[in-house]
This record gives sequence, structure tokens and C-alpha cells, in this order.
Amino acid sequence: MKLGVIGSGAMGSGIGQVAAMAGWEVYLYDSNPEARSRALSQISESINKLVSKQKLTPELGVAAFGRIYACEQMQTMADADMVIEAIVEQVAAKKSVFEALEQVVSPTCIIATNTSSLSVTALASALQHPERFIGIHFFNPPVLMKLVEVIPAIQTDATLPMRIQKIIESWGKTALIAKDTPGFIVNKVARPFYSEAIRIYEEGLASPQEIDFIMMQHGFKMGPFALMDFIGHDVNYFVTESVWKAFYYDSKYKPSLAQLKLVEAGYLGRKKGRGFYDYSQELVSVSAVEDSLSKSVFMRIISMLVNEAVDTVYLGICTEEAVDLAVKLGVNYPKGLLEWGHELGMQQVVNTLDELYHFYHEERYRVCAGLRNLAKL
Ligand SMILES: NC(=O)c1ccc[n+]([C@@H]2O[C@H](COP(=O)([O-])OP(=O)(O)OC[C@H]3O[C@@H](n4cnc5c(N)ncnc54)[C@H](O)[C@@H]3O)[C@@H](O)[C@H]2O)c1
Repeated sequence: MKLGVIGSGAMGSGIGQVAAMAGWEVYLYDSNPEARSRALSQISESINKLVSKQKLTPELGVAAFGRIYACEQMQTMADADMVIEAIVEQVAAKKSVFEALEQVVSPTCIIATNTSSLSVTALASALQHPERFIGIHFFNPPVLMKLVEVIPAIQTDATLPMRIQKIIESWGKTALIAKDTPGFIVNKVARPFYSEAIRIYEEGLASPQEIDFIMMQHGFKMGPFALMDFIGHDVNYFVTESVWKAFYYDSKYKPSLAQLKLVEAGYLGRKKGRGFYDYSQELVSVSAVEDSLSKSVFMRIISMLVNEAVDTVYLGICTEEAVDLAVKLGVNYPKGLLEWGHELGMQQVVNTLDELYHFYHEERYRVCAGLRNLAKL
């Protein structure tokens, strides 16, 4: 089988490598020739690493690399079975790629986008045959991250999501189907992990060190502040802002001024040496927090997360199994959020949110209908 990849940056090169390791022939195209050669050297480096860690035999590594071709024109993809686009996150640029691509590929070639924040349905509207178009959202880095979200546009042929699911699973990944909704599954459901943590910090109720410590005590590999510093505040703020705007400015997704200030200052996190933490100084961690503070911080954040996960299922965006798998594989949560909610007791989660709602009189704390229903059971 033959895959075309358009845009050979961080995501495109990783996706190409995944497909090549699964036996597909891969044609990588990028409008920037330097990006094409950079992609080949990054793939070779990554394959060598997998071989040295004995995750891949040297023979399979050589064979996989031999199946990847950097090409100077999209024409080379004329007989591709599928093409995945991974260029810059801009609607106009993506649409013009799809228009050009449809002139090159066969009418049955599947065309996919790796967008993380744009409407798949809006992108599909650029195609003459939108029924063959779909979102295939890999996580960064594609070679290591197990999760892939598969997002049909409203124009997509009804049989395509399952076909894609099979292909992606044959590439060794877990593919979950999601409705075309802002943030899809993970980038929607995980928002409160960041936003509620920042809110607690903005109110002066606890420091980033304390909040990170509390969440790690509950099994998260990184606390929200360390994680935002790691992701980069430019990226994390952009995702929050785009989900908020796309949901018609629903206040539960509202970005925070504290994070905006970091972006404005250029304190983008680890990559700049400073974010919520200052990496030029020795980091002072917390080793104990008062019980009542620990309980209230954890319950606020986890209750907001459970509410969002239940709402996502209630609105038919994905299944119960998918929402729990998505956070475990996409953001490394120690447990699924529905599983966590049941363990804490859904009524307890409702009580926490109702108390916050009555205290603050803010919409962000509203309990979704699905959660009220579950709490009654
Ligand atoms: N980086 C992430 O964490 C991540 C995760 C999931 C999805 N995504 C999505 O994947 C896509 C690519 O992201 P990335 O991080 O790999 O970006 P990147 O900047 O690393 O790579 C983009 C590549 O596209 C090329 N390009 C730009 N316009 C082009 C065009 N018209 N034709 C051909 N090539 C073109 C650029 O030269 C560049 O090499 C975006 O839609 C992004 O939202 C990114």
C-alpha cells in the first residue's frame, strides 16, 4: 500500500515513519526542500534509536527506511491509496493543498488531515469528493504515542471511519472514532486539568508547586504547571483559546490571563528556560501539603475533568470506552475519567461542582445533564 504525506515537519515525518515501519511505501512531500531532507535524517535517527533499544531489528529498520521517499512534487503521489496532510495549521493553506491534490490522485484515494484544531467538515468543503475525506489526528511524537483520533466530517462516507480504524490499528496504534467537534476528544476533555489548576493559582489558594505536588500524589506523571511548561505556553494557550472560540466562547473553556501574560513575556516554558517555573534556578519542590488543601484542590480539578468527560459521551462525541482510553493514551492519565468518577462516586463529583457553582455563580462550574443522570443511578 502507498501513503502520501504532505508536510514533512514534526508530525508528517513521524506519521511517515509509522506507516513505513508497518510495511507501507511512503512518499513525503514538503514545499520546503530543507524540511524534506531534515525529515529523512530525523527518521533515520529515530529508526536507529529503536534498533539500539531492540524495539526493531536492524533488518526491519533498513527495510522501513528503504520504503520512504522524499519527493519534489505532489505528482509522485498519483497512485497513492491514502494521503495525509500535515502542513501548517491554516485553513486557506490546507484547502489549497487539497484542491491541488485532487487533481493528482485517483477518485478513490483517501485524503486525510492531521489537523488538531480546525473543523474537518470545513476542510472537507474544499474537495470535489468530500466523501473520501477524514481527520486522522496523531499525537506528538507519532512514533511513540499510541493514540490516534479518527474524525469523520459530516460529508464523509459512513464506511470510511471503520476502514481507517483498521488501517491505523494495523500500524500498531489505537484508533478512536470521534465526532467533528472542537478539540475532538483529548484536547477537549483535558482542558480543565490546566484551566482549573490555573484558576486555583490565580485565586492564591495554592502555588503551582503545591498543585503539581497534589496532582502527582494522585498518580499524574506531571502536575498541570510542569506539564504546561513542558508543552509550551504558546501551544497550550492556542489550543485553549481555539476550543473556547469554537464553542462560541463557552466560559468553561475560557483561557486565563496568567497564561496569556507568560506568552506575552515570551516565558513559553521549558524551551525558553522559564514558564510557571524558572529553570535557571534550582527548582524547589513541595514535599507535603495540608490535607484539607490537598483534598479541595484535587476534587476541584478532578470533578471538572469528570464532568467534561461525561459531557463528551453524553453529546455523542465518542463512546464511554473511547473517552477513558483517550486520556490514558493521549495524555498519560493514570486512570480513565469515567472510571475515576465512579470510584469517587458521581454524586460526590456533582456535590463538589454544585458547591463551586453556588459559591462563584459562574457557568464554568455547571454540572452537565449526563453527570446528573449518572449521579441518580
Ligand atoms: N506538533 C504537534 O504537537 C501536533 C500534534 C497533532 C497535530 N498537529 C498538527 O499537524 C500539522 C503539522 O504540525 P507540525 O507540528 O508537524 O508542523 P511543522 O511546522 O513541524 O511542519 C509543517 C511542515 O509543513 C510544511 N508546509 C507548510 N506549508 C506547506 C504547503 N503548502 N505544502 C507543503 N508543505 C507545507 C512546512 O515546510 C513544514 O515542514 C498541523 O496541522 C498541526 O496542527 C501537530
